[in-house]
Amino acid sequence: MDLEKTVCYCMSVTAGMIKDAVDSGAGTVEEVQEATGAGSVCGSCLEEVQKLVDQFVKERGEA
Ligand code: FES
Repeated sequence: MDLEKTVCYCMSVTAGMIKDAVDSGAGTVEEVQEATGAGSVCGSCLEEVQKLVDQFVKERGEA
């Protein structure tokens, strides 16, 4: 996975920033949204944000 990849263009949020938010305790899209702003403008990235949150939460659980 490319952590430099921009997921949310409105807020310039990368996959790595979403990972950091999850590693810092965010467990849902809403919490990641609060922490990073991702998905809070046009919402078109929300599906992708959701996928990444699910994946990073899962990885956190296994770490
Ligand atoms: S691309 Fe994420 S809110 Fe617009």
